[in-house]
Amino acid sequence: MKILIKNGKVINSDKELNADILIDGGKISLIKENINIETEFTIEASNKLVIPGGIDVHTHLDMPYGDIKTRDDFETGTIAAAFGGTTSIIDFAIQSKGQTLKDSLNIWLDKGKNAVLDFGLHLIITDVNPYVLSEIKEVIEKGVTSFKLFTAYPNRLMLSDEKIFQVMLKANENGGLILMHAENGEAIEYLINQALQQGKKEPIYHALTRPSQLEAEAVYRSIMLASLADVPIYFVHISSGDAMDVINFSKQRYEKIFSETCPHYLLLTEDELRKPNFEGAKYVLSPPLRKKADLKKLWSAIQKNEIDTIATDHCPLNFETDKKLGIDDFTKIPNGGPGIENRVQLMYHFGVVEGKISLNRWVELISTNPAKIFGLYPEKGTISVGSDADIVIWNPDVEHTISANTHHMNVDYNMFEGFKIKGNAEVVISNGEIIIQNNKFVGRRGRGKFLKRKQFELAR
Ligand code: URP
Ligand code: ZN
Ligand code: ZN
Repeated sequence: MKILIKNGKVINSDKELNADILIDGGKISLIKENINIETEFTIEASNKLVIPGGIDVHTHLDMPYGDIKTRDDFETGTIAAAFGGTTSIIDFAIQSKGQTLKDSLNIWLDKGKNAVLDFGLHLIITDVNPYVLSEIKEVIEKGVTSFKLFTAYPNRLMLSDEKIFQVMLKANENGGLILMHAENGEAIEYLINQALQQGKKEPIYHALTRPSQLEAEAVYRSIMLASLADVPIYFVHISSGDAMDVINFSKQRYEKIFSETCPHYLLLTEDELRKPNFEGAKYVLSPPLRKKADLKKLWSAIQKNEIDTIATDHCPLNFETDKKLGIDDFTKIPNGGPGIENRVQLMYHFGVVEGKISLNRWVELISTNPAKIFGLYPEKGTISVGSDADIVIWNPDVEHTISANTHHMNVDYNMFEGFKIKGNAEVVISNGEIIIQNNKFVGRRGRGKFLKRKQFELAR
């Protein structure tokens, strides 16, 4: 099928131009002014921005969490993502204790069969042994090229420094990328136990027992281990100014460091956790929300190109049925918050409309850098001839108020409830098919394909 997009302003991370775009067979086949070719569909895009589809590299869809699981599966989660201008995601397959990497991967590949958007997978490694280490090469060959490790959550997800270092060495041998959840799990455990003994059980103690020094410490330790192993390291969900300082300092000596933050760390503070009627639990996620000064530092890091990507860490858990499991004890509140639908919108409004970043930087953060770092470029992350036709027609003027009453995520609250924002996706095209139009989803379940990603390559 051929689609023609007429008269839009095309925004890539490195340039913008007024041009028409011809899509043919799922790819972008021509970009130039005044294309006049007969096509099945023509989209009029004057006064609209035409951007590469957003890529959210940090989601948790259909993820088991004790006796519950995250409320969006690959169908509902990717539909919600599409409504907000995202056309690819990378989710996390989780290795259970005793499980092989291949088995965990197969479970998530199966879940992904419901995806509406193209999806890739990272692997969370929780149980390291010689066999698992030997599997790293094989899974990289299958297109799963990034491995998330935890320095937090002792007895569940946390790995010892020895195991972390072993995985780093293996990843480096085979062209893999390490993703790090950096918080000092043991010191946090001590602070949590101390708080509980003192009867401090409300949601705010989630934030107060995970101070930013313990994020910064784990970031530094991980960088030192990564530099010794010579492996590239990508910090997921950086939340604090302290962590940013350590990253910036370390980059002077070791180049292969990348960092991600999320809209909630840019727009919300730990004060949300003090909300009455247990509503603070809606904002219990890790690392925790921080202070105003941290938000300022993270925005400045975005402006100075010190942060590479914006992802969501979308981990949707209902307030009523899930978060309330911890009503008497903050340690029992399942960690995570929803956001897959609002990432591109929030970065447009609070970044571009509020004058903090350019249109090009917006595209770089939400699409181009994610594609480059995670082995998807130039098929994704750019509007270029030969690239996948993952395109969003963005209306820069439309206004809306974010609300759980109108969002498409399968979760009963929105962390950005009541935020009035400008700009939204109007038409969303994935692999040359229109999937969002006239505020309706017109794609189909299972149309998304698994993204076999290339090995990590350093391209700054
Ligand atoms: O609280 C969070 N972020 N939950 C999701 C899992 C993770 O650590 O990313
Ligand atoms: Zn994490
Ligand atoms: Zn996460």
